[in-house]
Amino acid sequence: MSLNLILMGLPGAGKGTQAQFIVDKYHVPHISTGDMFRDAISNSTPLGVKAKSFTDKGDLVPDEVTNGIVKERLAQDDTKPGFLLDGYPRTLEQADALSQMTKDLDKPLTAVINIDVDPKLLTERLSGRFICKNCGATYHKLYHMPKVPGTCDVCGGHEFYQREDDKPEAVKNRLKVNVKMNTPLIAYYKDRNLLFNVDGSKDIDEVWQDVDKILSTL
Ligand code: AP5
Ligand code: MG
Ligand code: ZN
Repeated sequence: MSLNLILMGLPGAGKGTQAQFIVDKYHVPHISTGDMFRDAISNSTPLGVKAKSFTDKGDLVPDEVTNGIVKERLAQDDTKPGFLLDGYPRTLEQADALSQMTKDLDKPLTAVINIDVDPKLLTERLSGRFICKNCGATYHKLYHMPKVPGTCDVCGGHEFYQREDDKPEAVKNRLKVNVKMNTPLIAYYKDRNLLFNVDGSKDIDEVWQDVDKILSTL
């Protein structure tokens, strides 16, 4: 049976962090719309040009653009054993579009995991985040330092960067935009009996144990 998953959570909740563990253990492709936009922006593709003005400010990229890239991605062959959507859907329109895609592709959703964190904790998570330039591994200056200072645990790289949208003004707007959309989306998947909540305020390893417990029963 394939494992068709959505990982939900506010900015900084730990979607990318948990996605890494899920991919390592369950071998499903990680489909992060945020990563796809950042790749497109750094390569100055037409998609990147379209997305940049929205992502820089922390606004949502228009639904038709986002739905288009996900539809294309889900149609690829590597999603046969399953997929892990990270940061999509974020609006009810996107949830409806995804429902149509999974129907057309005959890849019904298995579960939606919502990483629940009090928004008050998130500003600190985002302002302390840094990312390996070479492989994209995510760290935090208080909660997740590389084992050897200045060296990426995953690839051994030495260069790190902070995300453009982790600057204070953009963070404020991202939280505002996403908090508003979050409640109806949670209700949407709860109604469809797909929702699992995990307490994302625990340590990274404890959150992973809770996520893994859910996934191993599916
Ligand atoms: P996206 O890249 O998805 O950003 P986001 O939703 O704001 O989420 P983040 O990636 O910031 O947080 P995360 O939950 O992955 O946390 P992480 O694991 O890194 O989207 C970026 C932009 O693209 C959007 O603003 C929008 O413009 C556009 N976009 C994307 N999808 C879209 C869509 N569907 N529709 C429209 N537009 C879209 O962790 C954060 C930090 O905390 C790290 O430093 C980490 O080490 C640390 N940490 C993680 N877990 C814990 C823990 N349990 N305890 C302590 N620290 C922790
Ligand atoms: Mg992320
Ligand atoms: Zn790395």
